[in-house]
Amino acid sequence: MSVKKVRVFLKDRTYDIVIGRRVLKEGRSLLRSLALGHDAIVITNPTLHKLYKETIKDIFRNCASSMRIELVPDSERAKSFQVLTGLLDRIAKFDKNRRIFIAAFGGGVIGDLAGFTAAIYKRGVPYIQIPTTLLAQVDSAIGGKVAVDLPIAKNLAGAFYQPRIVLSDTSVLGTLPDRQIRNGLAEVIKYAVIKDPWLFQFLENNRDRLLGLDEAALESIVYRCSVIKAKVVASDEFDNKGVRVILNYGHTIGHAIESACGYSTRYNHGEAIAVGMVTAARMALMLGLIKRHDELRIESLIRYYGLPTLIKGLKLSLIYNAYLHDKKFIRAKNRLVLPTKIGSVKVVEGISDAIVKRAITERMVRGG
Ligand code: NAD
Ligand code: GLY
Repeated sequence: MSVKKVRVFLKDRTYDIVIGRRVLKEGRSLLRSLALGHDAIVITNPTLHKLYKETIKDIFRNCASSMRIELVPDSERAKSFQVLTGLLDRIAKFDKNRRIFIAAFGGGVIGDLAGFTAAIYKRGVPYIQIPTTLLAQVDSAIGGKVAVDLPIAKNLAGAFYQPRIVLSDTSVLGTLPDRQIRNGLAEVIKYAVIKDPWLFQFLENNRDRLLGLDEAALESIVYRCSVIKAKVVASDEFDNKGVRVILNYGHTIGHAIESACGYSTRYNHGEAIAVGMVTAARMALMLGLIKRHDELRIESLIRYYGLPTLIKGLKLSLIYNAYLHDKKFIRAKNRLVLPTKIGSVKVVEGISDAIVKRAITERMVRGG
């Protein structure tokens, strides 16, 4: 079995990301060696439970004295205070006052919710990430950003709380719907643009393998992205040194699009940031930061993976108002991550409203 390990170096919070096919089988011994606690709470949703009930039982059979599965709704709705408090109540009732730990078994929604639950229950209990979407394996399960949403915006109540291990088993990606694979590939394209020309070329040359769920190809991209994310997080764990912000390439306009359509399924996260990445590349072109050839390569790759590059059915005013509420504004000045060439970005502050509006407008489908 091919297993790769990537270490996230964070002093006493250092942990490994273990990547490969059938990692979950090996996971049992890895978890035993971590001695996480006696009682495991596995947070997942009904879709995953139906598919992986036996796998979950197998993982925890020998590494916890007891295991309880907690099901939460399957959608962004699970990242709410209502779901969180229900979960905390049930965990407290189950807690036998021995050592308890939490496992997130799911995509980014489960990972963010389970991580935040672990961060605040008894002021912090150990937790592990078992990401089951491509997006979660390449991004959300790594780095300790955990949160729930508030009605006014996504991820507004959260914490930095690192998992004890991330088990990225690429074989579970085989049951993901095609739209979810593309959703994750948008984040992979993000990594390629911000840091990795080799990955960019790999994506250009291996579309059919990746969309056909070739396990070796998937493993390569999960590994490559995990290495990048681990390095970025190790240099700026708390996102206050101007390093981690580069992971937000495409996210400013992307989040505005998600918010403008009320986080409906019209645009999932990856689809929204796909448009956001193209829009940011166009802003970079307008500011003379990137060559036309590279800007076109970014747009072509996004389109090549069947991801949207245009905004349909939304008004400029809705997107613009949502953009004004972005968390990345600093002292009322905008701050965007713009590409300068393939594999390199620049954080630019105070971009004029005219440029932002023009770049968004150019992406809008007339009459939409
Ligand atoms: P998701 O968690 O909603 O999962 C997408 C869908 O796939 C769900 O319906 C889920 O049930 C299903 N699913 C998951 N794994 C499956 C599998 N193996 N087989 C079949 N179906 C499966 O969506 P996501 O895209 O993984 O995550 C999005 C969330 O991640 C958002 O809430 C976003 O804010 C968050 N996020 C967090 C970070 C971070 O750093 N913490 C980074 C990026 C995104
Ligand atoms: N996904 C952005 C971050 O982890 O900082």
